[in-house]
Amino acid sequence: MENFTAYNPTKLHFGKNVTDMLGETVLEYGKRVLLMYGKGSIQKNGIFDQVINQLKSVNAEIFEYSGIKPNPLVDDVSEAAQIGKLNNIDVIVAVGGGSVIDSAKIAALAIANITDPWAIMKYKAKPKTTKPLIAVLTLAATGTEMNGAAVLQNHETGEKIGYVSSLNYPKHSFLDPEFTYTVPKNYTAYGVVDLIAHALEAYFGDGEASLSDRFVEVIIKEAMEYGPLLLKDLKNYAYRANIMWAATTALNGMTNYGRKNGDWGVHDIGHNISYLYDTAHGATLSIAYPAWLKLQKDRIPERITKLGNQLFGTNSADETIENLEKFFKSIDCPVNLSDINIGKKKEKEIIEQMLKNKINGMVHEFSDEDRIKIVKLMM
Ligand code: NZQ
Ligand code: ZN
Repeated sequence: MENFTAYNPTKLHFGKNVTDMLGETVLEYGKRVLLMYGKGSIQKNGIFDQVINQLKSVNAEIFEYSGIKPNPLVDDVSEAAQIGKLNNIDVIVAVGGGSVIDSAKIAALAIANITDPWAIMKYKAKPKTTKPLIAVLTLAATGTEMNGAAVLQNHETGEKIGYVSSLNYPKHSFLDPEFTYTVPKNYTAYGVVDLIAHALEAYFGDGEASLSDRFVEVIIKEAMEYGPLLLKDLKNYAYRANIMWAATTALNGMTNYGRKNGDWGVHDIGHNISYLYDTAHGATLSIAYPAWLKLQKDRIPERITKLGNQLFGTNSADETIENLEKFFKSIDCPVNLSDINIGKKKEKEIIEQMLKNKINGMVHEFSDEDRIKIVKLMM
């Protein structure tokens, strides 16, 4: 086992009606609130009204920034930060999925350090402090509610990249599984894929970590058991709750203690596909993971076989890959680029993107030849 420091400062409130405490929680940090959200789902499903009522109940002064899109843009973060700075806000309340919460994490840093968000993302600015962030999660997938990561894209530089900092943890996160009842079937399935992919990125990381491996295995089993049930019954509280908590634990540190780091090569591939075609994050991962495993199966056959043995009771790397692919298909997720109408004509463009941005894993590094192979394996 590698040495490690366990650190997770987020206070996470989980269950029915937990946002009844939102107002008084916000008040701990001040009354001037920057409220950030996406493109309107929270107005349709009533979450917006609940949040506003909570903020009004403590006489908060609300400054809004909305319209954050899936695969969020750094431009939106710059604009939100501008509003935050001009109004001298005390705290950010972010209501949404990963895109909104990630945008709020970087806006919080940009406001507190009066700096350019992209300089933060590229590790050029070195933020020393941040504004307090309170997250109200409406979609189970990314784990951003209890981790220090944020992912943004920039059309000027042609990148979608992640930034990790211990300053990024939300102070509080509110997770009411009922808030995810209206997440459509496809995004619900992408969330299941995303959480499985996070567990796998840890599993293919660096270092022997027996307990963390077992956490990975049970988190994936949880997702494979309750994901399909949930997709048949989208308003089932128990299924929503099980998947929501599984998604949080898949990327809140638990699966990585005792390793040097996770791999994250599949995420790098996925982010570049999202960048090019605005593909939903989870959909890029159900395509990229099988391809990555095919690339690695002769390099790390024992590891891939062990995974399949734990998850499916199989005894070869090929069977692991086959079963994982079968699972993704069973929840209507794409496993090839052609499944999302990205055909052979785009192969060159994708290869160029992968080569330009030098997509890579932290443990299983890619050569240029691998970068080309992986694209062909995804077609
Ligand atoms: O924009 P609105 O109207 O809110 O609609 C969203 C969006 O269209 C909708 N939605 C969210 N909650 C809903 C809902 N619709 C109905 N009812 C609800 N309750 O769902 C769509 C997708 O939202 P988004 O926030 O993009 O999804 P997700 O949570 O999957 O976040 C994906 C982003 O997070 C990044 C991804 O790369 C991607 O940019 N990631 C962040 C990570 C992190 N910070 O740790 C790790 C991940 O690996 C990932 O990279
Ligand atoms: Zn992910």
